[in-house]
Amino acid sequence: MNILVVGSGGREHAICAAFSGSSRVGKVYCANGNAGISQVAECVPINPDEIQKLANFAASNAVDLTFVGGETSLALGIVDEFEKRGLRIIGPTKAAAELEASKAFSKDFMARHAVPTARYRNADSTRAAVAFLNDGVFGDAHSPVVVKASGLAAGKGVVVAANRIEAVEAIQGLASIAGEAAADRIVLEECLIGKEVSLIMFADGEDFALMPPTRDHKRIGESETGPNTGGMGTFTDDALLSPEQTEQVIDEIIKPTLKGCIEEGFPFRGILFLGLMMTYDGPKLLEYNVRSGDPETQSILVRLETDLVDVCEAMLDGRLSKIDIKWKPGCSATVVLAAEGYPYSPRKGDVIRGLADVTEAIVFHAGTARNEAGEFVTSGGRVLVVTATGDTLDAALSTAYRELSKISFEGMQFRRDIGR
Ligand code: AMP
Ligand code: GLY
Repeated sequence: MNILVVGSGGREHAICAAFSGSSRVGKVYCANGNAGISQVAECVPINPDEIQKLANFAASNAVDLTFVGGETSLALGIVDEFEKRGLRIIGPTKAAAELEASKAFSKDFMARHAVPTARYRNADSTRAAVAFLNDGVFGDAHSPVVVKASGLAAGKGVVVAANRIEAVEAIQGLASIAGEAAADRIVLEECLIGKEVSLIMFADGEDFALMPPTRDHKRIGESETGPNTGGMGTFTDDALLSPEQTEQVIDEIIKPTLKGCIEEGFPFRGILFLGLMMTYDGPKLLEYNVRSGDPETQSILVRLETDLVDVCEAMLDGRLSKIDIKWKPGCSATVVLAAEGYPYSPRKGDVIRGLADVTEAIVFHAGTARNEAGEFVTSGGRVLVVTATGDTLDAALSTAYRELSKISFEGMQFRRDIGR
């Protein structure tokens, strides 16, 4: 069968690699893809927001299954359009994608379905947001408050403000960091304390199958300092959640969420991502994403032993509860190599060396291109993603770090404390 993957980052490279390794797959196309992805898929120059063109491409190239990597196409309704045309596609409908596209909507959804989350207020203007700071919900002037742009902002629309003065500054500066459209509505939240876990699952509308739990390191700097990024590294380790914690998340968060989606008329089919904070008061949901994470996907898919096509078909046919998805035991670790200037203004065009020397880890390309001499060069903020597996987290990490030390490009930055 032929597959179309939508997206162009390290996540999509990992998804294309998983499909191209399937004995059931003939051709893998990737729109847009990148220079590294073109080693495992045929890249086609269509952007994720060109929904009609993507549907036309799938229809005229005998694509049997389309898999959407990122939120942009989902929020624009790619799934509704494909389904209208009878094209098979993995992902939630536009209505379900609101769970990610609007944080204000998703907080109200959590409230309607009693999903444990941080106390919050949705504000329609900066003035209303500032006024909410004084109503006592977020403690006193010295209490931390989390300020979020409601709309999609590629991970850059959240500020954890240490006190009320910083919160006011964050509210007033939100449009400039997240964009006017995303900051049109503002969500204020109580600041939760605990360990963060990303729990991602396949969902078929009614049932779900969990992927291994992951942790993402979102800040650019070591020891979680500096600005937020799309993610600088991840690892999977089943020990991130105890069996009791997993049960609690299933009962208190996952089941009410899937039931709520059905009740509200948008059964969730696709990949559902829970950003969890494990607080002393139990697990709380920070956010939903309606797709897999980047770079969580890279750490997860290297452990998937079941054919991804089989999993996708089970999702589409509502048979997830009937298949036994197998994961490689142990752990995995992923470290992002970013360009100089990331996350603000990454430099492009630096020649990448040493890729061929990496033998024991997998290198996924996040933002690469070829120069006239045919060499790989940097062409995005996150450039490469190095993923390794191991029996223990230490083993996976040490392989990933040993292998990535063979790679170099001018200005390369990475965190040395992933998984620590
Ligand atoms: P989000 O995009 O909503 O997941 O937020 C991005 C990051 O901001 C999260 O991964 C957390 O590290 C942090 N964050 C978001 N909401 C809260 C909260 N209510 N309390 C503490 N930290 C938060
Ligand atoms: N790595 C976080 C995300 O994909 O949202």
